[in-house]
Amino acid sequence: MLKRLLLALSLLASLLQAAPRPAEQQVGIVGGREASESKWPWQVSLRFKANFWIHICGGSLIHPQWVLTAAHCVGPRIHSPELFQVQLREQHLYYEDQLLPVNRIIVNPNYYTVEGGADIALLELGDPVNVSSHVHPIALPPALETFPSGTSCWVTGWGDIDNNEPLPPPYALKQVKVPIVENRLCDRKYHAGLYTEDNVLIVRDDMLCAGNTERDSCQGDSGGPLVCKVKGTWMQAGVVSWGEGCAEANHPGIYTRVTYYLDWIHSYVPEHS
Ligand code: ARG
Repeated sequence: MLKRLLLALSLLASLLQAAPRPAEQQVGIVGGREASESKWPWQVSLRFKANFWIHICGGSLIHPQWVLTAAHCVGPRIHSPELFQVQLREQHLYYEDQLLPVNRIIVNPNYYTVEGGADIALLELGDPVNVSSHVHPIALPPALETFPSGTSCWVTGWGDIDNNEPLPPPYALKQVKVPIVENRLCDRKYHAGLYTEDNVLIVRDDMLCAGNTERDSCQGDSGGPLVCKVKGTWMQAGVVSWGEGCAEANHPGIYTRVTYYLDWIHSYVPEHS
């Protein structure tokens, strides 16, 4: 019960990260290391208007004019797009900001709480960005891709480096390779720790699990991409969504499963080559 309360509080806290706090406390990834400059060109930082444009979540460029993120980063309450801006791939958060306005926020209509699923949202940028080797979109996966355990997957972000341990300055983007945990196994693990009836799914079909006690995403990484290399191609498997703490035993990180929302994404985002 206490753990659940803490989970709820941490989720609330992540939604309220816009509250003014010194920059040192704002902003990761548990385990892993600093990303090399040439990697993860689709990674973005989602900023919220406070005393300054504070990092609240990660995101990924999936088209020159569209960013994929988590619904809990921008909803479920409707906010004006003027309250958000997007920073494209930056090595050190805040150090070379060139913020871009957001035109439109589209929260999946089935989103209510992270545990209920559909934790996915789209941001339309004011203008398409200039694509380069440093900044370009990540491919979406084919509809039938399941990302079985053993798939080579990585998660990236500027989030906490452990429970309640923010990423220290100079806020270098971090990466970690995370093991995929298949849904049924992940659901069983979560039932072992939370007081939920066995026949009620915690890890729903629109979710995907990855991570262990040494490697995980954490607060501040939400909305960011879990990407996998499948037959030589990088594609986005998940969106950082939630978890019971970070890198806790029997509680892998939980991601929104991108394949589940391909049709919804493509109802807004044009397919491009
Ligand atoms: N909800 C968190 C956020 O808003 C992400 C938590 C991810 N947790 C995990 N154990 N992988 O940043």
